[in-house]
Amino acid sequence: MVSQVSVETSPPSAGANPPGVPTTTITLDVNGSPHRLEVDNRTSLLDALRERLDLTGSKKGCDHGQCGACTVLVDGRRTNSCLVLAVSAEGSDVTTVEGLADGDALHPVQQAFLDRDAYQCGYCTPGQICSTVGMLEEARAGMPSHVTTDITNGEIDLDDEEVRERLSGNLCRCGAYMNIVPAVHDAACAHDADATDGATR
Ligand code: FES
Ligand code: FES
Repeated sequence: MVSQVSVETSPPSAGANPPGVPTTTITLDVNGSPHRLEVDNRTSLLDALRERLDLTGSKKGCDHGQCGACTVLVDGRRTNSCLVLAVSAEGSDVTTVEGLADGDALHPVQQAFLDRDAYQCGYCTPGQICSTVGMLEEARAGMPSHVTTDITNGEIDLDDEEVRERLSGNLCRCGAYMNIVPAVHDAACAHDADATDGATR
């Protein structure tokens, strides 16, 4: 339940707008909390989240859409936040890695990564987890990937090849991907079990 709007009209000194720079006041719902903030029109969603809202879980790896470290969910779809202008996200629901858990209860994807020892460094893991959450929804919705062989029945067999292809936009500079695929399978199974029980997460 959201009861209070966080209003930020004065950027912190580190992100202060130079005189004469066009700014826009935007509203974002971030992790269930509404925010209104004035941003330099050139501000990326990633910078708005990290520098204005202190949500530093999303990382700036490349700032060019190439590594996935900045992945968040925008209106439920995984998004490279470094490629999105904050002004273009006006009115959107944004979920960052900080917003996935329900209090002390980890999101099923977080729990699966923990159980499978699939957590990597703090730089790439938040993006991998947000990307997995979005990817699982895409697969459940029947969205094909480059390696989907049968696109006629609307159902995705989320095998290892599908998982690797669908998460290929999230890079680890160390090449330590060993346990992510089994963690994703566990998370998918956990979701299916929850869905059978009538849960929504
Ligand atoms: S920081 Fe956005 S894709 Fe690398
Ligand atoms: S970049 Fe995170 S473990 Fe390699």
